[in-house]
Amino acid sequence: MNRIDVGLGARSYPILIEAGLLDRAHVHLAPLARGGRLVVVADENVAMAQLPRLAAGLGNLTVTPIVLPPGESTKSWAVLEQLTDQLLELGIERGDRIMALGGGVIGDLVGFAASILKRGCGFVQVPTSLLAQVDSSVGGKTAINSRAGKNLVGAFHQPDLVLIDPTTLDTLPAREVRSGYAEVVKYGLIDDPAFFDWCDTHGGSLLAGDADARTHAIAHSVAAKARVVAADERETTGTRALLNLGHTFGHALEAETGFSDTLLHGEAVACGMALAFRFSAYLGLCPDEDAGRVAYHLARSGLPTTLGEAHVDADGATLVAHMMHDKKMESGRLPFLLARGIGQTFLAKDVDLKQVAAFLDSEA
Ligand code: NAD
Ligand code: GLY
Repeated sequence: MNRIDVGLGARSYPILIEAGLLDRAHVHLAPLARGGRLVVVADENVAMAQLPRLAAGLGNLTVTPIVLPPGESTKSWAVLEQLTDQLLELGIERGDRIMALGGGVIGDLVGFAASILKRGCGFVQVPTSLLAQVDSSVGGKTAINSRAGKNLVGAFHQPDLVLIDPTTLDTLPAREVRSGYAEVVKYGLIDDPAFFDWCDTHGGSLLAGDADARTHAIAHSVAAKARVVAADERETTGTRALLNLGHTFGHALEAETGFSDTLLHGEAVACGMALAFRFSAYLGLCPDEDAGRVAYHLARSGLPTTLGEAHVDADGATLVAHMMHDKKMESGRLPFLLARGIGQTFLAKDVDLKQVAAFLDSEA
């Protein structure tokens, strides 16, 4: 069993990673189930694929499931209202822990519901997508989407426990596995070139379903994220901002494709990272060879690395306009993540958005 602790003083919590953990969930969750009952929120896909297994693993605990529609549109005011009403009807108290079983959509929604219910109650993350296992279930960012944009309404609210069973990925569609893999590669690109080398060697096995490769990649990624969150929980010092590598370009691509299945979040991040490296090379900051290596690895992993592959047919000015709605805007300037090479990402606050637009035009 891998155990990684997120060190946040009184709000510290463990992340447990092991194949088959779901089948033994009782051991870890019985002490958190008030009156022997657990409310588990899942979307329809995960409820079908993993809930029966979790319920069996919970033994004599009573499971009260709440099943929601799948997809990004579930992170909405309407579903949040429905969910909080249901939780209140079930008599949820502050001392209870609501369980989020699913991908980043369910994790973000349930985490936000927990942050506001009775002015804050507990929750447990049981992430079942690769993206959620290596990124969204750790660190306490919770949110829903609003008319003005994605993740614009939310709170920092840390879970009490994260349980990761890599075998849940066996039922995750291959495209979703590839999309989540982009966030794995991200940790290597930020500050860990040896891990990028590991991805280069073992990424193919991971995508093909190799259990050891999956567990290693998840544990390594979670350890990296836990360190960052402990150092900069609320993204105030710039350390946590590094986790947004590829996200500014990626966000523009997602906005242009309507936050739809045309381009999944991880696919947008993959293309965004390839663009961030090529833009860094365009500015003379990063060797072309490193930008080429990044794109080659992502493309070999079945991820988009060009605007065309991301199904985006827009000019630079249009894409930059999407970036202006980014919640990371600070006094009219957009902090940008650039790289001096693989594993040498840094936050630049003086990027000229006209130059970004010209670069994107050169990519079309
Ligand atoms: P998701 O939750 O929609 O899951 C992707 C799809 O896979 C869904 O259809 C889901 O039903 C299905 N699925 C999940 N696990 C499965 C399994 N084991 N078997 C079968 N099907 C399964 O999307 P996601 O990619 O997990 O997460 C994306 C969301 O995460 C976005 O809303 C994004 O904003 C958010 N996010 C949050 C953070 C954070 O720090 N909080 C970080 C990154 C992304
Ligand atoms: N996914 C970026 C963060 O958690 O900060």
